[in-house]
Amino acid sequence: MSTPETRPGTSQPPSGPLAGRRVRAAIIGTGAIGRGSHLPALNRLAEEGETEVVAAVDIDAIAVEEFCEQTGIPHAYTDLDRMLEEQRPDLVSICTPPTLHRAQTIAALRAGAWVWCEKPPVPTLADYDAVEAEEGTESGPYASIVFQHRFGSGSRHVRRLLAERAMGRPLVAHCQTTWYRDTAYYAVPWRGRWATEGGGPAMGHGIHQMDLLLDLLGPWSEVRAMAGRLVHDVETEDVSTALVRFENGALATVVNSVLSPEEVSRIRIDCERATVELTHLYGHSNANWRIVPAPEVPGDEAAAWQDFGADVPSSHLEQLRELVASMRKGERPRSSGADGRTSLELIAALYKSAFTDSTVRAGEIGPGDSFYTAMHGNVPGWAPVAAEEVSA
Ligand SMILES: NC(=O)c1ccc[n+]([C@@H]2O[C@H](COP(=O)([O-])OP(=O)(O)OC[C@H]3O[C@@H](n4cnc5c(N)ncnc54)[C@H](O)[C@@H]3O)[C@@H](O)[C@H]2O)c1
Repeated sequence: MSTPETRPGTSQPPSGPLAGRRVRAAIIGTGAIGRGSHLPALNRLAEEGETEVVAAVDIDAIAVEEFCEQTGIPHAYTDLDRMLEEQRPDLVSICTPPTLHRAQTIAALRAGAWVWCEKPPVPTLADYDAVEAEEGTESGPYASIVFQHRFGSGSRHVRRLLAERAMGRPLVAHCQTTWYRDTAYYAVPWRGRWATEGGGPAMGHGIHQMDLLLDLLGPWSEVRAMAGRLVHDVETEDVSTALVRFENGALATVVNSVLSPEEVSRIRIDCERATVELTHLYGHSNANWRIVPAPEVPGDEAAAWQDFGADVPSSHLEQLRELVASMRKGERPRSSGADGRTSLELIAALYKSAFTDSTVRAGEIGPGDSFYTAMHGNVPGWAPVAAEEVSA
């Protein structure tokens, strides 16, 4: 068991405000992901001497009291500002619906806490930039977005092979989130609405896979997309397809669907000397990755590519581990700032391209663009219909 004083890999004595003590964490939103993923990850790092959970917040007073009682968290709150004032946590885990992320992240940053915020980060690029403007400039606090599929041994190994061009240049890629959600799933009134979900499967389901694709392949340069509302009674799309060109020249197809009975999450990248493929559903371990060399690749070189190292599955825990290490060093964590914004920008561009029948280039959606402040871009046929228009 390591403690902050004896962390492996550190030869220097720890310094900074967190030296020699645990990171004091608070969980905001005690629903499915808060109790199912954030608390277990925080508890695991607590066993390693890194963290302690000091408080939980939820608008449901009974639920948060019960949650704290059952899990041994000392302080239950229904008011975020009061919790921040009284507990002064170092880290705040935001596990609430996306429309709350902007205000809650800003409140935590202003109180001096680092933030680990669930995906989708915020509903729009304007919201993201407003949050980023509240981050510290030198050594934090920073807000990192939960993109757990970037973490673990498989993605680390493949990212390194791609960065080193070990398999040659990446040329062709496929990024697929083809899932199935039935009518009952969309019967809940907040689902499939721009105001409450922020978007359809591109935003709510495919964001993880697109984020991983961008993490592996680097910046994209242009996108052409189509979206459809083929089955469900929703405001948003229920399927989208896109063609994406990357700065490195690679061309990719991206499919985000909730209409696909055989569910799969897949990324496939054909490089000059090998195809690398990830096939999974909600998370991956080494066994979910496959690297198939081109015929001319020498056997010993191809064998070296198969060495993914000790199996560390993608998980909230792995991302949190890195985040806490960044906090101790006072360094910007991965998946924050510009690095946490990439998939949100691609999604905004995908919607703009699909709804305006145009090619959208990276960086073009900024202040003054209707897609900067609304993912539907106020485009008739996609933007929500105002109540008075419905009754007219
Ligand atoms: N990373 C992943 O793989 C993953 C998986 C599932 C969900 N999520 C994301 O996690 C977030 C939460 O999803 P969930 O499935 O846990 O939802 P949920 O509905 O189960 O839980 C949300 C909780 O937030 C609470 N809440 C609502 N308003 C609040 C407020 N103003 N202050 C404090 N608490 C408030 C609710 O009472 C509820 O307990 C969403 O952004 C979702 O997209 C991420």
